[in-house]
Amino acid sequence: MATLQFWKPGTTGPGSTLDRANETDDSVISSAPTTSLSIQAARERLPIHKYRQNLLYCIEKYGVVIVVGQTGCGKTTQLPQYLYEAGWASEGNIIACTQPRRVAATSVAGRVASEVGTIIGDEVGYTIRFEDVSDKERTHILYMTDGILFRETLVDPLLSRFSVIMIDEAHERSVYTDLLLGILKKIRRKRPSLRIIVSSATLDAMSFVDYFSSGGLENEVTVASLEGRMYPVEIAHLEQPTPDYVKTAADTVWNINLQQSRGDILVFLTGREEIDRCLEKLAERLPNLPRNASPLKLFALHAGLSIQEQLSVFEPAEPGTRKVIVSTNIAEASVTIDGIKYVVDSGFVKVRTYNPTTSLSSLVTVPISLASAIQRAGRAGRTMSGICYRLYTSSNLKSLSPTTQPEITRTDLTTVILQLKSLGVDDLMKFEWVTSPPAESVLRALEGLVASGMVDEDGRLTVVGEKVAECPVEVNLARMLFASKDYKCGDEILTIAAMTTVQDVFIIPDGSAGALAELERRKFTAEEGDHLTLLNVYNAFVRYGRSSSWCKSHALSFRALSRAISIRSQLKKYMQRFDLPTESCQGDAKRLRQCLVSGYWRNGARWVADGTYRSVRGNTVLHVHPNSVLFTRKPRSGWVIFHEMEETKKTQIRILTEIEPDWLLDYGHKFYPKHGGS
Ligand code: CDP
Ligand code: MG
Repeated sequence: MATLQFWKPGTTGPGSTLDRANETDDSVISSAPTTSLSIQAARERLPIHKYRQNLLYCIEKYGVVIVVGQTGCGKTTQLPQYLYEAGWASEGNIIACTQPRRVAATSVAGRVASEVGTIIGDEVGYTIRFEDVSDKERTHILYMTDGILFRETLVDPLLSRFSVIMIDEAHERSVYTDLLLGILKKIRRKRPSLRIIVSSATLDAMSFVDYFSSGGLENEVTVASLEGRMYPVEIAHLEQPTPDYVKTAADTVWNINLQQSRGDILVFLTGREEIDRCLEKLAERLPNLPRNASPLKLFALHAGLSIQEQLSVFEPAEPGTRKVIVSTNIAEASVTIDGIKYVVDSGFVKVRTYNPTTSLSSLVTVPISLASAIQRAGRAGRTMSGICYRLYTSSNLKSLSPTTQPEITRTDLTTVILQLKSLGVDDLMKFEWVTSPPAESVLRALEGLVASGMVDEDGRLTVVGEKVAECPVEVNLARMLFASKDYKCGDEILTIAAMTTVQDVFIIPDGSAGALAELERRKFTAEEGDHLTLLNVYNAFVRYGRSSSWCKSHALSFRALSRAISIRSQLKKYMQRFDLPTESCQGDAKRLRQCLVSGYWRNGARWVADGTYRSVRGNTVLHVHPNSVLFTRKPRSGWVIFHEMEETKKTQIRILTEIEPDWLLDYGHKFYPKHGGS
């Protein structure tokens, strides 16, 4: 096995920003296991505790408090509790804390509920999309995703049930965090009693201060800096760059297990495929594990898993075994997985980017920012001192951009603009953006909204647009739900919308088991493509009693399908609210495909003779994802629409359905040149 050229931990290289952590006097803290302490005593030992009075004073006196502190010092779990104890949730008020990710909202709420001594969903609750574990009367501390809180402004523009809103992990600059900051600034002018807390990593704090101090609010903003980190983290960089960080990650995990003392391992890679590859490499080697080494318990953590699967990584490993969690960026912020002592950081992240010229969104793997590198390393020092192995050199570190580029600058703004308009923000130029999105992206989104009849020529929301804005799914899916009335296929479109919202329905392992799974999948294949195949899977699952053993024998994910059922029933409520019929198309696949085009018309592609496709807009070369039923077959018409696109080494499209090219013209007439003089 290749030995790794790491600098010895402790002799950290230049530029390693966590060096300082080693110098702080944490010896007293790190020697005592927290588990032996009462909850109250453990809370009082967190670095944030000594700032309790000061923080409460700041929040009393200032409208906006920017809180800066090292990861693990207690912001997310403690601040809402301090506010609660100080009476900010009296008179039925709620203290909200937003998270960019669902798993963070869920797991933190669980932790805080146990600290408060209540069951989750009572005094402490959480709300994420399609899941509300809170009580209207009794919940006082509410963790929620930023997207959900933003949605709430559509119904309650002043967010009147909240006394304090904490925007956590603001430095991640997710789209909804940015939108919320803009809305909150507006709300504060109308409702000065509302308190806003923005918690951020150090490097980004000043941009939030500047943002909130402009426009007459100069004296309302203050910064609270919390010194102190729980446990020291040592950093090691690679001496030479690695050509294959997935393999190096697996090697590193293996070596840690052989050479380092007890403690679990958290690995950061970019996506499910890399995670599976890394876990396979480790699994293959497990039989060769020396007898005296700890057995490894392997976990994946990514957004494609159900919340229950995601939460399973939080369960402690059996004594004597070592837990290895291979994760996407999802574990970078907010979550504390007990027992993590070692972090392995690939230095890369997959982000969704949007190309306004082609109107196509795709997933691209890019180097992380310095702020992210610090966050990732911080995951190792949460419950004990730790070591972070960076799979890049220290000179690579210096070339990283300091902070993460705000998502709003690289995303498809269709849904965002629709929702802003629905909030009455008609003049997008006047909205106080933390960072303005590129004009071209705004323009493309507006064009798309006009073309699909959701915004009129004067830029105002139409009746359909208003309704679509309320639906908790992407605009393209919502658009299809509404169009299903005309195509008389509401029943099927509901299922397809739910099935494309969950990921990884098929479980196709590599090797011979994979070939068998592949055969199972063929049983559901619809020749029209993947959307109808997903529909077949769903219908069969329901018909055969929704059982997990049935799923197992057909290489399907029981969890994913169960989630699809729950999402479908929630979307159905929206359909009923908007008086949309949920009738079946009775097997008329043509109508169904036409309805799909009403949502996916921007994602049209044409087959070319070498087996690849060209996007209708931009003429980009597209490869079919191997999981598609159209992977090896030319569509009869030569044309498809696709659900999403991902850029790895090449650009791949997933979830395809054959269409007739003329159907695209019904929606894209503003964009596509008309055929032969028609
Ligand atoms: O938000 P911040 O990074 O400042 O810290 P936090 O999430 O409030 O966590 C504070 C401390 O609580 C961590 O350092 C852990 O020691 C502990 N914690 C834990 O042990 N288990 C959790 N699920 C959450 C927090
Ligand atoms: Mg936090």
